[in-house]
Amino acid sequence: MAMTGVIRPGHAQLRVLNLEEGIHHYRDVLGMQETGRDDQGRVYLKCWEEHDHSSLVLREADSAGLDFFAFKVLDKATLDRLDGRLREYGLPTERIPAGEMLETGERVRFTLPSGHQIELYAEKTRVGNGLGHVNPNPWNAAAEKGIAPLRLDHCLLYGPNVAKVQEIFEKVLGFQLVERSLTPEGDANMGIWLTCSNKVHDIAFVEYPEPGKLHHLSFLLSSWDKVLRAADIMSMNSVPVDIGPTRHGITQGATIYAWDPSGNRFETFMGGYTVYPDHEVLTWTFEGLGEGGGLDFAQRKLHESFLTVVT
Ligand SMILES: [Fe+2]
Repeated sequence: MAMTGVIRPGHAQLRVLNLEEGIHHYRDVLGMQETGRDDQGRVYLKCWEEHDHSSLVLREADSAGLDFFAFKVLDKATLDRLDGRLREYGLPTERIPAGEMLETGERVRFTLPSGHQIELYAEKTRVGNGLGHVNPNPWNAAAEKGIAPLRLDHCLLYGPNVAKVQEIFEKVLGFQLVERSLTPEGDANMGIWLTCSNKVHDIAFVEYPEPGKLHHLSFLLSSWDKVLRAADIMSMNSVPVDIGPTRHGITQGATIYAWDPSGNRFETFMGGYTVYPDHEVLTWTFEGLGEGGGLDFAQRKLHESFLTVVT
């Protein structure tokens, strides 16, 4: 699919309880590159393969969790068009001026009925991945530190009103529903996995009574070997692991769920299938989420933490 609207996840601003511990985790253990600090004390990081200035912003706060998750759109005209569509739909938007985040252009921010703040932006300074654009090497030994994910891949958010959230992403922002899981009664979607591209998902939501919660931020690895290596690095650094290494039935991605020092869950992930516009939505019953292997295909069980532990 030619992507002409929202093109991909761009950045997440994450609250951490202790900034130095957060920096150690995301820079030294996960292996992201620190690319800046601003006058609000926020720290900016990117994955080595990413070309834009930053994909993760850490902010020290009294509670862990997600401040906002942002998508990059094709260009400034697209930003204006989507801002208009959101307002027409009835969602108020706020314009955050260029420069409020380092090396980042104007952002359009709105709040979903799930309580999450989502942003759209068109411009961020390109700093490259260190490999150049002419006859580039396939990887960069000097840049690959720690777990060394390629990019911020997606997030899973927990909050109320998932049906409304689905409508906004599909009808206003042009996303496609790829998979869904049903409530125990089977009469509504409990979980939705959505793509703006032909990745298996760019964002996902699960119905939850408390608004604005983060289940996990996910970072992409290139192979199953790298997922196992990530497990080794987590163990060597005493990173608490939630689930895995295993494979999700949902999205078919190979995964580890683990927690940063503030209790924010993160995922190291690889795989998943390619989605085209004629894809037929895959459905998981509530039993399928657990016994059917939707969450953990190897163990076929619904780990309690999946439904209860969020920040
Ligand atoms: Fe994930």
